Amino acid sequence: MLGVCYYPEHWNEDWWAEDARQMREMGISYVRIAEFAWSRMEPEPGCYDWGWLDRAIATLAAEGLKVVLGTPTAAAPKWLIDAHPDVLPVFADGRARGFGSRRHYTAASKTFRAETDRIVTAMARRYGAHEAVVGWQIDNEFGGDDTVMLYGPEDAAGFREWLSKRYQSVEALNRAWGNVFWSMEFRSFDEVIPPAGQVSDANPAALLDFWRYSSDSLAEYCALQAKILRKHSPDRFITHNFMGFFHQFDHAKLSESLDFCSWDSYPLGKIEHFPLSDEERARWYNTSHPDFSAFHHELYRKLRNDRFWIMEQQPGPVNWAHWNPAPKPGMVRLWGWEALAHGAEVVSYFRWRQVPFAQEQMHAGLTRPDRQLSPGGHEVTRLGREIADVGPLPPIEQADVAIVLDYEAAWITTIEPQGADFNYKLLLHRWYEALRRHGINVDVLTPGRSLAGYKLVFVPSMPVVCAAAMRALQETDAHLVFGPRSGSKLQNFEIPQTLPPGPLQAFLPLKVAEVSSLRPGLAINVEGEGLSGSASRWLEQLETALPSRLATEGGQPVMVSSENASYLGAWLDPALLHTLFGLLLDEADIARVVMPEPVRLVRRGKVGVIFNYGPEPYTIPFATGRFLLGERTVPPQDLAIFETTP
Ligand code: GAL
Repeated sequence: MLGVCYYPEHWNEDWWAEDARQMREMGISYVRIAEFAWSRMEPEPGCYDWGWLDRAIATLAAEGLKVVLGTPTAAAPKWLIDAHPDVLPVFADGRARGFGSRRHYTAASKTFRAETDRIVTAMARRYGAHEAVVGWQIDNEFGGDDTVMLYGPEDAAGFREWLSKRYQSVEALNRAWGNVFWSMEFRSFDEVIPPAGQVSDANPAALLDFWRYSSDSLAEYCALQAKILRKHSPDRFITHNFMGFFHQFDHAKLSESLDFCSWDSYPLGKIEHFPLSDEERARWYNTSHPDFSAFHHELYRKLRNDRFWIMEQQPGPVNWAHWNPAPKPGMVRLWGWEALAHGAEVVSYFRWRQVPFAQEQMHAGLTRPDRQLSPGGHEVTRLGREIADVGPLPPIEQADVAIVLDYEAAWITTIEPQGADFNYKLLLHRWYEALRRHGINVDVLTPGRSLAGYKLVFVPSMPVVCAAAMRALQETDAHLVFGPRSGSKLQNFEIPQTLPPGPLQAFLPLKVAEVSSLRPGLAINVEGEGLSGSASRWLEQLETALPSRLATEGGQPVMVSSENASYLGAWLDPALLHTLFGLLLDEADIARVVMPEPVRLVRRGKVGVIFNYGPEPYTIPFATGRFLLGERTVPPQDLAIFETTP
């Protein structure tokens, strides 16, 4: 169940055999290689050098290690860029970004697609049936470094083509976007340009469609690689390594061409980049937040076939955040177990050895440049032994509770924040956190996925309710809980004629009459049902005959419920959100467990796993059976696996 990312091309060949031996001894079985090695595979245009890669794979295979090959398209060589500078990505400022790091291409480029076809076909022909090669990773972290929306001539041409398919006539496009406003009407699709570089705000409808187009273009590019791999490498899995807290393309759509999703888990790096207060960042700086990784494990597991891998797991300090602390002792092991408890098939570490040259020399590996184990390497060695001792955990059952991640919600609220700090990622995180603090499993789903079998479904925000999402909402018996801005837009970014929540009025007879966004420091007191707290950032005025469950001091409804749905028209403070969700869980008859912060519980059938992210030991009051790992009192930065009947 352990893996590692290895770059044989970075090291003397006479180190490879020893590296492979050490990997095996550590309990590692999978090694991902080659995803940035195009310049070594094809040093001259059309001249392939497979010798080194043949030997690297053979060396790993000799130790019984299984190989995952990365297609190298995230790092095209200099000769390719010199021959075809038109493949370079043009950013919103109109400038092309150049050679010298990675991700220097646009997926819309016909030339780059042809070059991709060539190198992926060559690689798949050579290694597609190799017995040590068990699977493929396509490219590397699609969208990284802001490369989803690009603005070159081929992106523009692709956008026009996409629009003409979607709208059929330019009149329909003008109508959908409301182009009569500010004389933005086009006479033909040829006149359409990507929305960037305007004097003032671009049309939000154009921005949303450009985002959709860019997302589709990337999905198409991924599918193109998958098709080649399936043809030349049957019976091998195909995956991609997605990122955390990254919403810039529709991951559900892109993953349709994959067998399962993988993701790259950098718990500490993400703390620095997430919109938390400085106080919270300081609290989590060397453990990370207890819901950051868990959320993504659940997301990527549910996205495709109930399977996922961690392709890259943080082993020590990274190099790319503003500050890069070492993980608190115990956390590298804990994160590994956490991924496994949430169902990861493999946890693969980035990277085997810290590299003493080039861009990532300050990034830790499982081993140091002097070839000794790093602190993270020691923890992974222990993890490997423990995995062998504990054995497989029971299968993961469907949870009673689901939360819906809507990529378009991220796009729409970025295009039109309306309040500068209305941050969809944070909203989603706060709702997930408020739920998980009740000691329950929470499945993470994307819109349109079946909601059958859930008792409670939380939708923090879903501005556009697409037909598939509506169907799933109508077909479930779950009580639905919608958050602010849900149903506030039609497909073309327009406000529904009946006012928000538009189509959700089928569940809730209510209208959002007006919206206030609130600057930092403003908080409106909210109370009801014995609860009290505050709303900040966002407050909607609800017009409804439904009795209010939470209201402002002035009596303005903030949350209402019908028989099968609730609507929450405000951004609530985390403590109130947590207690409110507790109430909803009780109403839905879902058992919850009171635990101190920041302790988390994951259930796998009759087995429970406790993760203690906090500074204090935690004694589990409800563990009734045998301990498979650890003890009833769980020290800080530690875990326990036990049989349970709470
Ligand atoms: C990932 C990337 C890796 C490496 C790593 C460093 O985002 O896929 O290639 O750069 O970050 O943390």
